[in-house]
Amino acid sequence: MKKTVLALGILTSVVIACTPKASKTPAPEPPPSTAVSTADAENIKAGSVLIGSDKCTKCHKDKTDYVPGHTFEEQEKLMLAMAKKAKLTPEETTGLMAYVKANAKK
Ligand code: HEC
Repeated sequence: MKKTVLALGILTSVVIACTPKASKTPAPEPPPSTAVSTADAENIKAGSVLIGSDKCTKCHKDKTDYVPGHTFEEQEKLMLAMAKKAKLTPEETTGLMAYVKANAKK
């Protein structure tokens, strides 16, 4: 009995292996650039909400205005320090930094 099951199993896998694939061309994936910018847009949006939330405003007023007044390099360290103070999760920090990068002085 065991042998029959084994033989059947082998036969089945051989048949499956020989069956031509339904479609040889995989569905086209969106170009990576689109995927990245979508993720970026979501992070930026999350960051814009976060910076005005009580996670940041519980210690001082909304600092949204600070961002466009300084280059990213000028405020990167400060923002990372604030992320620590606010005990942001890594995801929230990503959002905050994406927002800062997108809105910093060029
Ligand atoms: C635990 C309290 C605390 C939290 C939470 C906090 N901050 Fe701050 N933040 C401070 C203090 C105190 C200062 C002022 C002293 C200094 O510059 O270190 C400051 C200064 C700043 C400045 C500089 C302002 C200026 O005019 O020079 C920015 C920008 C800022 N915070 C952004 C944020 C953001 C964004 C968040 C949320 C992710 C945040 N902070 C969360 C305490 C906090």
